[in-house]
Order: sequence, then C-alpha cells, then structure tokens
Amino acid sequence: MTVLVTGAAGFIGSYICAALLERGEHVVGVDNLNAYYDVRLKQYRLAKLENGAHGNAFDFYHLDISDREAMTNLAHSHAPTLTHIVHLAAQAGVRYSLEQPFAYLESNLAGQLVMLELCRNLPNLRHFVYASSSSVYGNNTPAPFAVEARTDAPASLYAATKKAGELMAHSYSHLYSIPATGLRFFTVYGAAGRPDMAYFLFTQAILEGTPVRLFNRGEMKRDFTYIDDIVAGTLACLDTPRGGHRVYNLGNNNPVELQRFLAVLESSLGKKARIEEADMQPGDVYETCADITASTRDFGFAPRTPIEDGLPRFVAWYRDYYRI
Ligand SMILES: NC(=O)c1ccc[n+]([C@@H]2O[C@H](COP(=O)([O-])OP(=O)(O)OC[C@H]3O[C@@H](n4cnc5c(N)ncnc54)[C@H](O)[C@@H]3O)[C@@H](O)[C@H]2O)c1
Repeated sequence: MTVLVTGAAGFIGSYICAALLERGEHVVGVDNLNAYYDVRLKQYRLAKLENGAHGNAFDFYHLDISDREAMTNLAHSHAPTLTHIVHLAAQAGVRYSLEQPFAYLESNLAGQLVMLELCRNLPNLRHFVYASSSSVYGNNTPAPFAVEARTDAPASLYAATKKAGELMAHSYSHLYSIPATGLRFFTVYGAAGRPDMAYFLFTQAILEGTPVRLFNRGEMKRDFTYIDDIVAGTLACLDTPRGGHRVYNLGNNNPVELQRFLAVLESSLGKKARIEEADMQPGDVYETCADITASTRDFGFAPRTPIEDGLPRFVAWYRDYYRI
C-alpha cells in the first residue's frame, strides 16, 4: 500500500513516516517546509528519512496542502495504490494564532478541505486519519477529557480551526462514505521535537543560563505524551478503520504539574533553572488530561512512557544535536 503523509518534515510526521517505512510501506510525504520554526530541523528530519535504510521507498514532495491543483495532481498520480492518508500538516501553536491568524485559515481550514476533496476522489482509499488536538476541549471540560465532552468553547483560534477540521471531516465522511478518524493529540514531546513548545524552550534556557518563563507560577497540568506512544497509537488506529467518522484521544492519561515537569527536566540536565514568573498566556488552558478508554478499547492504545523516561531521551538528543 501507499500511505500519503502530510507534514512529513514535521515532528510527528517524520516519526510516522519512519515507522511506516520500517514496516515496508511506500510513503509519499508532503510538506511546505515553512519557517514557523527553524527550517534546518525540518531538513534534518527529512534527511534522516531519505538517507535511512528504507529511503528509496520514500517520495517527498515540497508542496503546500492548500494548493489544490498541485495536491490533486499528486493524489492522481498515486491514486491506484494510495489506500491510506495520515494528515498532520497544520499551522500548530496556540500563541502564534493570536499573531498570525491567517496562517491557520490557509493550512488548517483550506488545507483540510483540500485533503477531504482528495479523499472524496480517491477510488481505493481505506482510511483517512488526521490530527486534531486536545486544545478543542477548552477550559471548562472536567478532567479526564472524554471524547464525548462538549467542545464548542475553544480558547484560541488554533483550537477553533482544529474543531472546525473535525466538523469538516465529519460532513465529508457522512456525504461520501469516507472512513475518517480524527486523533486529538495531547502535548507530544520527544527527540527532534518542536522548538516552540515549553519543554524545548525550557531546555534551551536552562542550558544557556537564561530565565525560564514559568506561566501561572507553574500551576498548570499537561498530559505529556511521548512520541513513541503517539506513533504506536496512530498506526494502530490507521490499521483499524471502523467506518464513518470517529474521534479519539491520544494522550498519556497522566497529567503532570509544570513544576514537577521542570524538576525532572532539571535533573535530566543536571542543572537548575533560573525561574521568571509570568502571567497565564492568553489562549492557554489550565489542565489537559486524556480519557483514553475508547482508543484503548478500539485499537489497543497503551501509552507506556512516563516523563522520567521520555525527558532524558529528549535531553540526550538535544545535547547531541546542538552540541551543548
Ligand atoms: N505536537 C503536539 O503536541 C501536538 C498536539 C496536538 C495536535 N498536534 C497536531 O499534530 C500535527 C503535527 O504536529 P507537529 O507537532 O508535528 O507540528 P510540526 O509543526 O512539527 O509539523 C507540521 C508540519 O506541517 C508542515 N505544514 C504546515 N502547514 C503546511 C501546509 N499548508 N502545507 C504543507 N505543509 C505544511 C510544516 O512545515 C511542518 O513540518 C498538527 O496537525 C498539529 O496541529 C500536535
């Protein structure tokens, strides 16, 4: 089978491509390599895929998913064997959505529609899996967040576009019988991760001796989920199309106070942080915690990496990559 992976040069996408290649699939990767964060990190991830043991089964296309014509041509050229799509390309980040709202319109709304139109016209498509986000739960959902909980009060434009993406997928699945699944990821971290996320910024600040900005005095909880657990869950879901449109949580089901998270990071780095307290950021939520009953029941999702194991692995990669 051929799997189309969008956001292939991104953090989660590059791991998904590697895992698919590892098990012998032909992978068509798409990414526009935008400069939201350091493009060299995206090129590094791509180079690892292209130069890896299965590099000749990986075809990469430098394209924008909102470019309807280019994406239609690409899908058309692979249509006979294209059976699965993992759609991860998006403008991520809660805070950036306050600064550059239109980036979210293009990638997360127009891009989502282009992907759904491709699905509508692919004759052999068996499963369309796309990334949603824990941010759809906003600030008023009781923890752990159940997939059935109301998600009509997003705290940021990013969250609103992710919720809109789910609704668009639902309507297309209903209208054109597309087996489609949205995965609500919860704070994914790991080696070669995203430089805009707190764990990355904290590590950088601690090693450089600059202040760590601790929002809301660290009184926030995040359900940090290690990348290997996300990859295992995403592939298990991809392999288990259940018909219609479904949404699942992929989170660790073990939220961690930011202060404890920082303590584990300090011990992994062998260095203390210089703390600078800061107010809660607009658009942020106080707590995330995934109820994973449905994802465990339906495709055996079983996260197994506590931050005590995952953070040292991230730190080892960071020190090696930045030679610090
Ligand atoms: N990392 C997390 O904690 C997390 C949590 C919840 C949801 N998500 C979602 O998971 C997905 C992957 O996230 P990630 O952390 O790997 O982010 P990422 O930014 O590392 O990866 C996204 C990739 O998509 C590409 N991209 C963006 N817009 C594009 C466009 N219009 N056309 C083509 N390529 C485009 C970017 O260049 C990037 O390489 C996203 O949909 C994100 O919203 C991530």
